[in-house]
Amino acid sequence: MSKKKVVLAYSGGLDTSVAIRWLMDKGYEVICYMADVGQGADTKDARDRAFKIGAKKCFVGDLKKKFVTDYVFPAIKAGALYQGKYNLATALSRPIIADAMVEVAKKEKADFVAHGCTGKGNDQVRFEVTFHVKAPGIKVFAPVREWELKTREDEIDYAAKKGIPINQTKKKLYSIDHNLWGISVEGGPLEDPWLEPLDNTYVSVVPPEKAPSKPEYVSVSFKKGVPVAVNGKTMDPVELIMKLNKIGAKHSLGRIDMIEDRLVGIKSRELYEAPASAILYEAHTALEELALDRETRRFKKGVSDCYSELVYYGLWFTPLKVALDAFVDVTQERVTGEVRIKMYKGKASVASRKSPFSRYSKKLATYGEGDVFDQSLAKGFIDIWAMPYK
Ligand code: ARG
Repeated sequence: MSKKKVVLAYSGGLDTSVAIRWLMDKGYEVICYMADVGQGADTKDARDRAFKIGAKKCFVGDLKKKFVTDYVFPAIKAGALYQGKYNLATALSRPIIADAMVEVAKKEKADFVAHGCTGKGNDQVRFEVTFHVKAPGIKVFAPVREWELKTREDEIDYAAKKGIPINQTKKKLYSIDHNLWGISVEGGPLEDPWLEPLDNTYVSVVPPEKAPSKPEYVSVSFKKGVPVAVNGKTMDPVELIMKLNKIGAKHSLGRIDMIEDRLVGIKSRELYEAPASAILYEAHTALEELALDRETRRFKKGVSDCYSELVYYGLWFTPLKVALDAFVDVTQERVTGEVRIKMYKGKASVASRKSPFSRYSKKLATYGEGDVFDQSLAKGFIDIWAMPYK
């Protein structure tokens, strides 16, 4: 009888390298799937190592464009920030990776899928909910949750014993997840919430002290809530995010240090770096201030929170997500225009904005010439407004 096949979400890191061998030792044929979501890692080296460890096949999927257009842009339109801070970079990448793995599993006729997440995090939930939705009945392995290797050192010793080629040393301090939309850093010294992160903890964003002492402006154009151009130049979605990451990082934008509430009930200290996101959220919000009416803005705030929780909790492929997108898309009909952002020592702030669908009326707002607001109507309005309280 031929061996049972398992498709493993493989990153080239320590956990998933060891997982290849662990699954093989359990008697499975291992097919690796590596997603390129813009983490900038050397996929060729990782692929070579997968074969050296014993993987039968190793697919590399370039998901960058789909990740930006189908995951990141909807999150921007929704205004989703988990607990008001985290742009969900890691959380958004899990359903797209898991979905792509299910496709591979179907093609390869594999009954099993596997991931390298621990039993304490959110990522296991995001992977597995997607597996179950996209391929009901599929069986899941979570080696890191199941094996006896308790620490990183145990894994490294296991790798040495089994002759698994790895690039990691026992010294590594942090657990880092990286994609186009952001970098998540946790663990090691960060586990003490009182400890200020050392500057070298951040991967791409310079400290504010080292940012240029002169501000720089960048303009972003949106079409129906989606960023389409930078400084007047239309850009491909991936290129646009990379460009904003680069300029933002230079000005120290998008560093976040937070204590967040994981789905499994624990609090954890997380560091994020998301410079493009800092620019885009500031700009998108500024445009909504101009284009949306008051009641839609107010209602949408609740939708933003709901959306961010849904993404964080791994519920991307659910009816609620479809329904929220439908609402958000209606609100974005008028969110077209241009915003200029001033970047200076860690802060992205709106400098100017314009939209062909602006609801701002200078004639009504002005205290100068050309005022058309009939102030005599205010008295009657206030009398009736106050009536119930009299
Ligand atoms: N806490 C974040 C989340 O749940 C990031 C997790 C990233 N993982 C890591 N290995 N740093 O979305």
